[in-house]
Amino acid sequence: MSHDPSTTGVAERPNKSAVLRISIIAAFGGFLFGYDSAVINGAVSAIQEEFGVSPGPLGFAVASALLGAAAGAFFGGRIADRLGRVPVMKIAAVLFLVSAIGCGVVESFEWLIFWRVVGGVGVGVASIIAPAYIAEIAPASVRGRLGSLQQMGIVLGIFISLAVDAWLAALAGGSGEPLWWGLEAWRWMFMAEAVPALAYLIGAFTIPESPRYLVAEGRADEARAVLTDLQGEASATERVRLIQQTLRTERKPRMSDLKGRMAGLKPIVWVGIGLAALQQFVGINVIFYYSNVLWQSVGFTEADSFTITVITSVTNVVVTVVAIALVERVGRRRLLLIGSGGMTLMLGTLAVIFATAPLVDGAPVLGPTAGPVALVAANLFVVFFGVSWGPMMWVLLGEMFPNQIRGAALAVAGFVQWIANWVVTVTFPALAAASLGLAYGLYAFFALVSLLFTIRMVRETTGIELEDMAD
Ligand code: GLC
Repeated sequence: MSHDPSTTGVAERPNKSAVLRISIIAAFGGFLFGYDSAVINGAVSAIQEEFGVSPGPLGFAVASALLGAAAGAFFGGRIADRLGRVPVMKIAAVLFLVSAIGCGVVESFEWLIFWRVVGGVGVGVASIIAPAYIAEIAPASVRGRLGSLQQMGIVLGIFISLAVDAWLAALAGGSGEPLWWGLEAWRWMFMAEAVPALAYLIGAFTIPESPRYLVAEGRADEARAVLTDLQGEASATERVRLIQQTLRTERKPRMSDLKGRMAGLKPIVWVGIGLAALQQFVGINVIFYYSNVLWQSVGFTEADSFTITVITSVTNVVVTVVAIALVERVGRRRLLLIGSGGMTLMLGTLAVIFATAPLVDGAPVLGPTAGPVALVAANLFVVFFGVSWGPMMWVLLGEMFPNQIRGAALAVAGFVQWIANWVVTVTFPALAAASLGLAYGLYAFFALVSLLFTIRMVRETTGIELEDMAD
């Protein structure tokens, strides 16, 4: 596919190593997002024992961090328009840091929830700031690759948290005795997050502010200096002029800029909302949050279930590399289409397997053929998600909105993404108890909807400059 990224006629000379370095630092936010949302898995049974809570309140407490994330995404997007992108990263880093220490030293279950929600707010903030910032500093020709680093961060974070949890649990040998400094293994699982949080905070002090934000603030000279460092002087001057053109008004971006005739919002904002909600409604996090329980419930041993979870998590990392390799060549839209098609098939397969499995004590148990088929289907689902909707949703949210509305639109779409995640997470146990076939049938249905949605609503953005994204 050929694109002509240049509206200016002036060739960009990207300083690739500088752009890569600052994108990686921004993507640390994604790493913390992944680590923080998955770390609870390994800690959950120890927490249950320590504070004597029953599964219901525990599940709700686990999910409450997701509501914190919704709030974080919403306010983070707005603060990013006021204070800038980099200060928002620093705020997220501090939230991760205090939450990690807080969760590690709590004396009561209520305080644990409090610190989890604080970390959740950090997750929400980080989830929207990395895509926006990376899109705003990246040269158009590699913006999809750099934007996918966010997802790379997320999946590595999920994987490392799994590894850290397993390692600490093995050290403790299931004893529940303190490991070091009088603190038990589950506390160290949370506290370990302080290390990447600190790295993120320090890193944030070394990266430049986004040129698109600087121009919106009337700081064109600073924006030009940043762009000169990142893509050469000639293209920097022209780029600043084009950014200025897109910020149609003299005033700063506001929430009211999202207003349009389509049910009160601009069509592009609806596209963002649809992408965000559908990315979650295909049920990806059911795989990541409930994997152990799921595989045990259909007849796998605890050890086997853990191995499966590790395999899934590694698969997710590997396919993200594939996505990074493909995104600029194949294009965002085509990847979404391939992903939706594949996910629909795999989720449909899982639905049929679970729905037709014989019941033992009311739960489906998979036989010698159905078991492996289900495993392969679940992992292929992760493959299809991981090359498409996983990274592309974040890339698109970062780049598809015009400069004037980016912060506000991201706030709304990011908020919806976390609410959708929360809805799927809290409804899965009840749905699964009613029928796993029904649960997966529903996710398959949403995967099909995601296909139709992409066909009708999503436009290709590969190679197009942010200044050329019309509403
Ligand atoms: C995406 C989703 C996130 C999920 C991850 C798994 O980043 O937004 O919720 O956990 O993919 O790969």
